[in-house]
Amino acid sequence: MLVFNSLFKIKKNTNPDVNIDIDGINLANVPQHIAIIMDGNGRWAKAQGKVRTFGHQAGAETLKTIVKIADKIGVKVISAYAFSTENWKRPVTEVSFIMELLSRYLTSEIEEFNRNNVQVRFMGSREGLPEVIKQKMDHAVEATKNNTGIILNLAINYGGQAEILQAIQRIAADTEKGLLKVEDIQAETFENYLYTAGLPAPDLLIRPGGDNRISNFMLWQIAYAEIWTTDAYWPAFTPEMFLQAIKEYQGRERRFGGLVTK
Ligand code: IPE
Ligand code: IPE
Ligand code: MG
Repeated sequence: MLVFNSLFKIKKNTNPDVNIDIDGINLANVPQHIAIIMDGNGRWAKAQGKVRTFGHQAGAETLKTIVKIADKIGVKVISAYAFSTENWKRPVTEVSFIMELLSRYLTSEIEEFNRNNVQVRFMGSREGLPEVIKQKMDHAVEATKNNTGIILNLAINYGGQAEILQAIQRIAADTEKGLLKVEDIQAETFENYLYTAGLPAPDLLIRPGGDNRISNFMLWQIAYAEIWTTDAYWPAFTPEMFLQAIKEYQGRERRFGGLVTK
């Protein structure tokens, strides 16, 4: 726990020219945007003889901890995959539980978000979501919109393919209306039609739960993200693992298709 304790004593590095190493983390090279596929909740619960839903509850706690630490070290955005467009395939009891958990979370955490200066955003389709969830999502966005700290971008009813399709449909509609010309449809324009408009692309993608796949998460945006996976289930994901992921990220050479000249 040494790493964890010392983190809370540090002052956030606000000067990008200064390289400070805290327990091996270079605060001048922290990923700006970290995407997290919060997987393994059900298996974690099952391993302890509990029902799957117990794991979802525990997973929500992990997220709170990780967001706080991310903010302390200067991460600007966390995009967290909470419910996918494919997760509707699960038994209705599990889906309902997740929706209720979300509903409770969105009420109970607003004060905490404001205390910690966290700005909440959402990405995903609103279609099919219960009315109460949509209202609470709107309220969470409104209540935290002036916060200037970390952005918590929650992916709810999110699918990367669906996101790209809705962007194409809206682009086609705007082109039909004469608001866009075909030659204007460049990468930058396209990105403005994604849920992540205005946000930098993730630098690091973390997937706990032991699977090495993307599961339809941020397909466009993760083009050059560094990927870090662990067998640990999300409810058992620790601050130390999070810092380890960042350390390993910092040791990697990102080439973006080019060559690194040393
Ligand atoms: C991730 O955990 C949360 C959601 C997909 C809602 P899972 O529920 O997928 O847990 P596992 O992967 O079955 O253990
Ligand atoms: C990805 O996990 C979705 C979320 C974490 C919300 P899944 O459990 O749905 O992914 P697969 O089915 O293992 O690919
Ligand atoms: Mg899973």
